[in-house]
Amino acid sequence: MHKLIVGNWKMNGVAESLQQVGKVVDASDNQSDNVQVVICPPYTLIDRARELTQNSKISIGGQDCHSNVSGPHTGDVSAEMLADLGATFVIVGHSERRDAYGETNALIVAKARAALKSGLTPIICVGENLETRESGETLEFIAEQIRESIPEESEITSIVIAYEPVWAIGTGKSADATQINEVHTFINAEIKKRFAFEGEVRILYGGSVSPTNAKDIFTIPNVHGGLIGGASLKADSFLSICQAVR
Ligand code: PGA
Repeated sequence: MHKLIVGNWKMNGVAESLQQVGKVVDASDNQSDNVQVVICPPYTLIDRARELTQNSKISIGGQDCHSNVSGPHTGDVSAEMLADLGATFVIVGHSERRDAYGETNALIVAKARAALKSGLTPIICVGENLETRESGETLEFIAEQIRESIPEESEITSIVIAYEPVWAIGTGKSADATQINEVHTFINAEIKKRFAFEGEVRILYGGSVSPTNAKDIFTIPNVHGGLIGGASLKADSFLSICQAVR
């Protein structure tokens, strides 16, 4: 299974930032066939980023989508609209959206379904906050998120899961190898139990992945790549993370 590195720019980036996309594209000829690279810029840059990446190995994704195809949803963007722009991935259920907008598992599963219907690969995020981890309830919590935010009709090749412990996002303190291994192994087993998947589903780790720790994280069993926030904003750090994949 090839690895997947996804850059999540969050609410960062204006026209000038497209230079970073250009640099990633320039380096993509040397990219190992073992790794697929996706950049998820804000909506406003998707079209231009897509133009820059169209003859390269780099794919473009959205950071969220509405669960409906169209309608009276001022300010929202549908999965179909993202696909129309040439995006092929979309992040759903990021903890920042779960927290700031009260997104529930029920809403996230609807968004993931909308993504699948439009031919996009949903990157479905799960992850516990510090309180849950400290109370020893991480695995139960993740099991519930998996059960409720992944559409039952998903196929192993059509979805990606991202494990992002909330306490590790943007803090500079990634989860350690034991913690990552435990949760990724658990997710893999849970998925096999609950869904009719054959083989392994792709599970990314996210939360303070950096050029310094990327290599160690990507060698942990059941880690199939990373969801990269802060370190994806500059081509240099993003590329060194991409190159850390073997
Ligand atoms: P970070 O963000 O790499 O800046 O911790 C990861 C994410 O939120 O996807």
